Amino acid sequence: MTIIIVVGAQWGDEGKGRVVDLLSEEVEVVARYNGGDNAGHTVTLNDQTFKLHLIPSGIIHPHTLAMLGNGVVINPLALLSEMQTLRSAGLVINEQRLRLSYAAHLITPAHRALDAAQEAARGNCSIGTTGRGIGPAYTDRAARQGLRLGDILKNDFEQRLQQHLQAANHTLQALYGAAHLDIHQAMADYLPAALALRPYIGDVGQELHNLLRSGKRLLIEGAQGCLLDLDLGSYPYVTSSCTTAAGALAGLGLGLQPAERVIGVTKAFQTRVGAGPFPTEVFGAEAERLRGSGANPWDEFGTTTGRARRVGWLDGVLLRYAVRINGLTELILTKLDILSGLETVRIATSYVENLTARHETLPLGPSNLSNVAPIYEEVPGWSEPLGALRHWQDLPQAAQHFIRRIETIAGCPVRQVSVGPERSQIIDVPNANEA
Ligand code: GDP
Ligand code: IMO
Ligand code: MG
Repeated sequence: MTIIIVVGAQWGDEGKGRVVDLLSEEVEVVARYNGGDNAGHTVTLNDQTFKLHLIPSGIIHPHTLAMLGNGVVINPLALLSEMQTLRSAGLVINEQRLRLSYAAHLITPAHRALDAAQEAARGNCSIGTTGRGIGPAYTDRAARQGLRLGDILKNDFEQRLQQHLQAANHTLQALYGAAHLDIHQAMADYLPAALALRPYIGDVGQELHNLLRSGKRLLIEGAQGCLLDLDLGSYPYVTSSCTTAAGALAGLGLGLQPAERVIGVTKAFQTRVGAGPFPTEVFGAEAERLRGSGANPWDEFGTTTGRARRVGWLDGVLLRYAVRINGLTELILTKLDILSGLETVRIATSYVENLTARHETLPLGPSNLSNVAPIYEEVPGWSEPLGALRHWQDLPQAAQHFIRRIETIAGCPVRQVSVGPERSQIIDVPNANEA
């Protein structure tokens, strides 16, 4: 029985998709436990680029089974479109390979309209959501009034969907003064899409339990990053699900059991899409250097929304926090190649608050960071491009030193580093005491 969990150790977009793709070769089952189509996970295979939003990235390996657990929120229109895209790329997507939990909640057109109305109402304090209806869908779940995938199998689904849309229209108009939904159109688009998912719906928790008992290996793919976790992230500038590794089993309907590896994916620098605190953020030419101009597919523009990502130096204080709250056994460091050509590279090692108090750990979590300034360690950069390198000993000394400093500052070993988006652009990192 093997469980491997992969989570984002920052604010999302760390490169989880490419890491999951790599690890999927060695497992039979891949599963998503949180979030919805707010996620955008990129996998690059030669001249093919896959952008996955709901379906676990491991589906690209033809031998895998893919599962969406009860912790996920599913928009049938988005899921069907993704299934179609993957089929067009030559993958087999059928009810034997893709299973959806009966207890996962549905995202409806009403949730998307409410997401937009709530963001507009927040004005200057908007969160910068992806507009996919995530918050309102999880709100309905917590209020015990949501529609679940299992409801699609029941006779009164059409009627319940209609009632849900009518109630949302009332809220949209009365609370937000927003345009109301065209219920007739919404029903015409959404109902057939929801019904088309019927063959895929089952008890994912039971199926996973059986697979694990029969010796199958399970790779769990987190969406978003732990700093976007509803409770432990930079609240209220967070998403509405549990994004940490501790939520993985609960979001799949599995009981508590050990995970062999809990892998945190982190970039060699820091990025964030949307609003919220970001102590190591940089601006101007320095930011453009880290972000890229948009000419390369890996430049820092959102996979789901295309928004320019905010960028900054790697934040070691937040990385230590990520190691703690996820119980990470190891880190995988991505986008090391982007730092080539910089004279020096910075890592925040602690914060100073109100110019006086020094903090090695977050004083009150990642929400209250407006009064802190990062204290940086500056290490020498390297000029060589890294994209063609495949072995630790070929990395420039300065890059090796940077990786070793990250391990020490984070208190967690770095097991692999990636030097480009391609499946093959990965380097194993030896244990610090064996190198
Ligand atoms: P995810 O949401 O965590 O799966 O990450 P995204 O796919 O949203 O964003 C990561 C971006 O970085 C994608 O465009 C990847 O193709 C790209 N990427 C991942 N690893 C590397 C790397 O080592 N080097 C470069 N240059 N790009 C990478
Ligand atoms: P992956 O899985 C980066 C951010 C949004 C916004 C906040 C809330 O690709 O790493 P939401 O639509 O979830 O209510 O938005 O969370 N956000 C992400 N940022 N990567 C993601 O997913 C994200 N999913 C949500 O930008 O700030
Ligand atoms: Mg992403």
